[in-house]
Amino acid sequence: MQKPPILRLRGVHKSLRGQHVLRGVDLDIADGENMVIIGRSGGGKSVLLRHIMGLLKPDKGEVWFRDQNLVQMSEEAITPLRREMGMLFQNGALFDSMTVGDNVGFSLVEQGKMKPAEIRTEVARALKIVDLPGQEYKMPAEISGGMRKRVALARAAITRPALMMYDEPTAGLDPIMADSITKLIARLGKELNMTNIVVTHDMVSAYEMADRIAMLHEGKIYAIATAKEIETSDDPVIKRFVKGMSQVSDAVF
Ligand SMILES: Nc1ncnc2c1ncn2[C@@H]1O[C@H](COP(=O)(O)OP(=O)(O)O)[C@@H](O)[C@H]1O
Ligand SMILES: [Mg+2]
Repeated sequence: MQKPPILRLRGVHKSLRGQHVLRGVDLDIADGENMVIIGRSGGGKSVLLRHIMGLLKPDKGEVWFRDQNLVQMSEEAITPLRREMGMLFQNGALFDSMTVGDNVGFSLVEQGKMKPAEIRTEVARALKIVDLPGQEYKMPAEISGGMRKRVALARAAITRPALMMYDEPTAGLDPIMADSITKLIARLGKELNMTNIVVTHDMVSAYEMADRIAMLHEGKIYAIATAKEIETSDDPVIKRFVKGMSQVSDAVF
């Protein structure tokens, strides 16, 4: 039997500064699924993630996390739910004045539930998963951009959220680094038993990690299908986007 979806969006509408950004988004994400969301820049992907976190409320529609509709909930009621969600924000930076270890352990310290020794153990474990064992005492300025990205991944995943979101995790990385981050996201999802939602422009990364790909187009989910189906689709809108993005990356390579 199939598990119930961890997330269900129904008819989500949102206007920002008079612009109708989301125009009736319907989306189901299964527990444990790796869902990749693609779509044009400025199309509302980051706005969509903010609705899932409950950071933005829709003008109309429903956002269900398991059996709770975030839209009707108070900020106080959403807070505990948000602990089950993690997000790697677009251009999410580290705290420059904190060590790598303090950056990674930040959320656990904030939660105030673990002893310092337990937090150190969790931090060490998270750093190991992202292939940075023993780097706790480095400062962000002392490590490379790719390493900082991996530290940010460890920081976002340390609380082992049930639902993890990544906003353009490979943007600005060279292809080799992008591939290593893609593999890490897949590995983190598996090892920590998380459902992943990954927003990306990077079709190589999308094909590699997606169970399904959803395309946001003109404020709606225009298509939702397996990576293979998207890759070989004859639909002109999908084709134009997918080929367009591949050409952009080819040019960069
Ligand atoms: N906080 C905000 N206030 C007003 N407009 C916003 C805000 N956030 C996003 N927008 C607008 O909403 C549209 C979608 O933005 P965004 O979700 O960031 O696109 P994407 O992530 O797909 O590139 C853009 O036109 C953007 O300018
Ligand atoms: Mg964005």
